[in-house]
Amino acid sequence: CGIVGYIGTKPVVPVILNGLKRLEYRGYDSAGIALGGGESGLSIRRASGKLRNLEALLADDPLRGDYGIGHTRWATHGRPSETNAHPHRDCSGSLVVVHNGIIENYRALKEELSAQGHVFLTETDTEIIAHLIEEENTVARCNEDIDIPLEEAVRRAVLKLTGAFAIGVISHEDPGKLVAARSGPPAIVGFGDNEYFLASDVPGILHYTREIVFLQDGDLAVLTKSGVRFSNFEGKPIVRSPQHISWDPAQAEKNGYAHFMLKEIYEQPRAVRDTLAGRLCNASGVIELPEINVSPETFQSAQRVLIASCGTSWHAGLAAKFLLERMARIPVEVDYASEFRYRDPLVSGSDIGLLISQSGETADTLAAQAEMIAKGSQTVAICNVVGAALTRKAVGTITTNAGPEIGVASTKAFTAQLAALLAFSLYAAQSRGTMTPEEIQALSQDLLKLPALMETALRSCQPVCESLAEIFANASDFLFLGRGIHYPIALEGALKLKEISYVHAEGYPAGEMKHGPNALVDETLPVVCVATKDIHDPTSVLKYEKTLSNIQEVTARGGRVIAIAVEGDNEIAKLVEHTIYVPQAREVLLPLIEVIPLQLLAYHIAVKRGCDVDQPRNLAKSVTVE
Ligand code: G6P
Repeated sequence: CGIVGYIGTKPVVPVILNGLKRLEYRGYDSAGIALGGGESGLSIRRASGKLRNLEALLADDPLRGDYGIGHTRWATHGRPSETNAHPHRDCSGSLVVVHNGIIENYRALKEELSAQGHVFLTETDTEIIAHLIEEENTVARCNEDIDIPLEEAVRRAVLKLTGAFAIGVISHEDPGKLVAARSGPPAIVGFGDNEYFLASDVPGILHYTREIVFLQDGDLAVLTKSGVRFSNFEGKPIVRSPQHISWDPAQAEKNGYAHFMLKEIYEQPRAVRDTLAGRLCNASGVIELPEINVSPETFQSAQRVLIASCGTSWHAGLAAKFLLERMARIPVEVDYASEFRYRDPLVSGSDIGLLISQSGETADTLAAQAEMIAKGSQTVAICNVVGAALTRKAVGTITTNAGPEIGVASTKAFTAQLAALLAFSLYAAQSRGTMTPEEIQALSQDLLKLPALMETALRSCQPVCESLAEIFANASDFLFLGRGIHYPIALEGALKLKEISYVHAEGYPAGEMKHGPNALVDETLPVVCVATKDIHDPTSVLKYEKTLSNIQEVTARGGRVIAIAVEGDNEIAKLVEHTIYVPQAREVLLPLIEVIPLQLLAYHIAVKRGCDVDQPRNLAKSVTVE
């Protein structure tokens, strides 16, 4: 989501709308604005859809005020609609909040606040924050007999939140100030001449100021007409000095990265963290997944899971077969969505249909879903866009929370899909009793550490992939190999390269080389081999050893092997020309880590070849024709 706040001497609405327009790439399903300081206290306008709908509303029904906050939304909780658009109010309507992020404990907080008499108007997690701040003020009034300043109420409230948030708050009861707090998603404060800005990202305010403070996690800022005060969540004042930003506007949109794709590759740890938030073991060691609307009993009696998807999402589906069959011991079939209808598939009421799609609008995937429903199966969607067509027909949806993906070649949506599929598989395993509570707890714990491992992989693989791209940028063909769950990742590596660098690439199961592709091998052919292993898992190690034999078959014929291996594997480096190391992890988590060097390799090769990385020729982000 995008946030812009302003307090200063200029007319407020144009400043906020201009800023939001430049942040629309962060979300565009609804937008809203609230102003303080007018004759009527706080006033709010909200509209569903793109920002131009809000602009039209404001043209018809203008707002007056001295300061304000605005928001452009990318839904996570609650479908895109005017009601669910930000800003959100407390009960009295005297306080409003805009929020970027996900509140994990919102269900528990909602229950508590409802019991205290709070009435909620929306399905969002953000509304909870407004009520929580209001409640802090009420409690202070009762216990301390004072009205605490807005920043103090915000401070007390944020201590009760778990999850990720960057918020902006204004209140009619403590006018003339804008309070911001950050824990997770970015938030910045801009310094102008007697004017101050709040934003979720640099492009939102770059055309007004280049003097910017990046709030740190645990920072709270109070913006007034006379300046900005910073403190931490303990209430202790802190010093934050603005830095000068020299980015041009295009760079700023990409957060300083050369391309959206690179930015999105780097956003993956965050995307995975947000997708897993609230979906792993709770305090009682149980996985809850109410959003899919599939009961444990349905999972117990289900005969099969049928997966249909396209492109990168199809690769996530292939990986899911390994996850679900291994963890939940349920047979899984995976189809290209475009093929599903044409073989008159056998579908029954005891099958669970699972459709995976970043956009939720892909025509083939929608057609496969329609076929499943027509044949009596209930369908679950894994989708990155709340309210998309796919989710409207499904009985339930896991939203991937990757945020808007702009690069045509999918990266963060893919790893977020894998994270969602891990949560789905854990829930299925719990329902079917195929994993013990201890095993579920242990895997949940490891999943919490996964984003940090992905960060490590990004740091260590980046320079290696860049220099390998230098060596291999002119190759005309590539092979990508993998075995078991690493095979879909090899396919994804090949697809990434094809899509953005226009180099012919094929993904193959490592064991299939001897049945044909070995004939292609010569000293001009780079072969990227995903040869990671979970050293604590005997099946994984066995599989790895088989892959090593396949690698030797390639090197014996002069092929140039680039191996993706886990840190500490010194043996493999002796067999191959190049090794890219990634952190060690469990077998089922390795795909989310090992795909990172494949994405980076494709990216750097595309850049070296001068290709249009974000908008490759002949491709579209969302394919709405069959
Ligand atoms: C297009 C995109 C791919 C994507 C595929 C499926 O081909 O270019 O990146 O994987 O569609 O899209 P979906 O939105 O259904 O995941």
